[in-house]
Amino acid sequence: LRNFNNSIFVFLVSFQSHLEKAKDSVKFAIDAGYRLFDCAYMYQNESEVGDAIQEKIKEGAVTREDLFIISKLWCTFHEKSLVKEACQNTLTALKLDYLDLYLIHWPMGFKLICSIFLTPFTLFFVNTFLSGSLCAMEDLVEIGLVKAIGIANFNKNQIEQLLSKPDLKYKPANNQIESHPYLPQEELIKYCQSKGISVTAYCPLGSPQWPKPEDFSLLDDPQIKEIAAKHKKTSAQVVIRFQVQRNVSVIPKSVTPHHIEENLKVFDFELTEKEMKTILSFKKRHRISSITL
Ligand SMILES: NC(=O)c1ccc[n+]([C@@H]2O[C@H](COP(=O)([O-])OP(=O)(O)OC[C@H]3O[C@@H](n4cnc5c(N)ncnc54)[C@H](OP(=O)(O)O)[C@@H]3O)[C@@H](O)[C@H]2O)c1
Repeated sequence: LRNFNNSIFVFLVSFQSHLEKAKDSVKFAIDAGYRLFDCAYMYQNESEVGDAIQEKIKEGAVTREDLFIISKLWCTFHEKSLVKEACQNTLTALKLDYLDLYLIHWPMGFKLICSIFLTPFTLFFVNTFLSGSLCAMEDLVEIGLVKAIGIANFNKNQIEQLLSKPDLKYKPANNQIESHPYLPQEELIKYCQSKGISVTAYCPLGSPQWPKPEDFSLLDDPQIKEIAAKHKKTSAQVVIRFQVQRNVSVIPKSVTPHHIEENLKVFDFELTEKEMKTILSFKKRHRISSITL
């Protein structure tokens, strides 16, 4: 986890990957050098990711210990009695004995009705992360199913509530939040880091596949393109490097082999202080993951 905090990993993830592509992409990524995979029950492809990992372990390409596997507790399993089974189901799908990091996917729970997906009829918020999911996740550490626990999409207020919990056994190791040049999250990142909570940036490329306002095209931003041209790099590499340089782990998703290779080549150049400041001063602001509270 120390290495993870120092964000030496850049990694491919599997959200929205088509099932058949997910397995091939994970195998390709392992061969390309990726070692950290960000999974979640909600992505509905943990089984394919698990198959890929097992094949690569059997081939001798990597050992389990070489890998850092993250998964997330979905909002319908926040109640204390449901957490262990949810984690075991994820482990079964991934074909693993333990997770390196298990995150609470969102700070709010949904009442379990029938579907993991939200419809206006299934959405009942329950505020259970302090009394339910967190305590049960601490138990998962004690029984060895997970090495560390963390959070995702938590704001400062929610983290403060969590840290002031009198019976807190394990401080969250990581907060996974949306961050890219149009949502730099400077204040929240500094706050987390000051509390010893490492930060991971999701949607780091501005999630080009999701519908957005017309003027949102991070990878086509003229200032990003200008910086990229100076370094003979791509826009994607610049926005990934931007996170690495502020000690934020970064999880670009890709199922396209040349993107997978490209996104890893971010350790052979450095953005200047002025370029970092330029990126941090963009006026344009946009949040992609709109259910963040
Ligand atoms: N904790 C949470 O609540 C949460 C929420 C959302 C996402 N996440 C995590 O964050 C990961 C990344 O987020 P995301 O997938 O929404 O957004 P993203 O990584 O910003 O963008 C992914 C998109 O960028 C494309 N892409 C990848 N590399 C590229 C490159 N070098 N040049 C041009 N396009 C490139 C991908 O296409 P190709 O596949 O064709 O390369 C894909 O369409 C997810 O997979 C998930 O693990 C977490």
